[in-house]
Amino acid sequence: MTEAIIQIIRSPLELQAVSKELRKNGKQIGLVPTMGALHQGHLSLVEKCKSENDITIVSVFVNPLQFAPNEDFEKYPRDFETDSRLLASAGADIIFFPTVSELFPKNVIAGNGFSTTVKVDGMSTLLEGEIRPGHFDGVTTIVNILFNCSLADNAYFGQKDAQQAAIIQKMVKDLLMPVKVNIIPTMREHDGLAMSSRNIYLSAHERAEAVILFKVLNHARTLINSGVRKSELILAETSKILSESSIAKIDYIRIVHASSFIDAEILSNGKYYLVIACRFGATRLLDNLFIEIIGDKIILQ
Ligand code: PAF
Repeated sequence: MTEAIIQIIRSPLELQAVSKELRKNGKQIGLVPTMGALHQGHLSLVEKCKSENDITIVSVFVNPLQFAPNEDFEKYPRDFETDSRLLASAGADIIFFPTVSELFPKNVIAGNGFSTTVKVDGMSTLLEGEIRPGHFDGVTTIVNILFNCSLADNAYFGQKDAQQAAIIQKMVKDLLMPVKVNIIPTMREHDGLAMSSRNIYLSAHERAEAVILFKVLNHARTLINSGVRKSELILAETSKILSESSIAKIDYIRIVHASSFIDAEILSNGKYYLVIACRFGATRLLDNLFIEIIGDKIILQ
């Protein structure tokens, strides 16, 4: 396949200037924020972005603000050469690949140090936010910066990180940010494991066991399709399946309202997620099932 020329921009202000010019020329801009280590899931976001916008910008930045000191910031997989090759093949137009020091300067005494946090109260302290305090503040802060540099009309996030996407949607709504947040269904491996950059941390045994998450979601699907509406019952049945794995350690399995991430006791008309976070050895995996009920109609994704 011949690869298109892709522009790599490292300076945040340069990206902003380029985007201003593009907008002046009537171009619609789409942004796919990533931390690199790209897989088919990211590429499906790029494909969607390309189909809906004139220009596709992909940011590749491992954001230190969203990692706690005990987390995997240093060892998070980084391979810019492969990422840029994949993005060129996928037809992205611009890669934004900033440095930590340029985005987050440290010179606090001279007044140039980075000192702003964007926080979405409530939702960002639940579930993932409870287990990883401050994580979502790091996410919303960097995503704000990425929106401001790219001047994107549309931004694309994966459903696998459903809480992250919902928090970003809330931030955009509260702050009247002129960008549409699009949530794209999770891409899965042949056996149903949700694609994630962290899957490479799994040993062969952990990788084989991790498929249980997909089995849990499928069981929930069957229960909901057969008319079960009580969350307690669905969670009790699905937890039984998870306990079949001798190594899966559950952080949480819950059914929540899709826009607030507050627990839902009963599934009635509305949108929900069944969310799971589970550890396999040292690797935490997330997965979820989107549930929408409109009268007799049930959408499960
Ligand atoms: O989902 C991710 O990869 C990151 O949290 C994001 C949205 C790129 C922000 O760093």
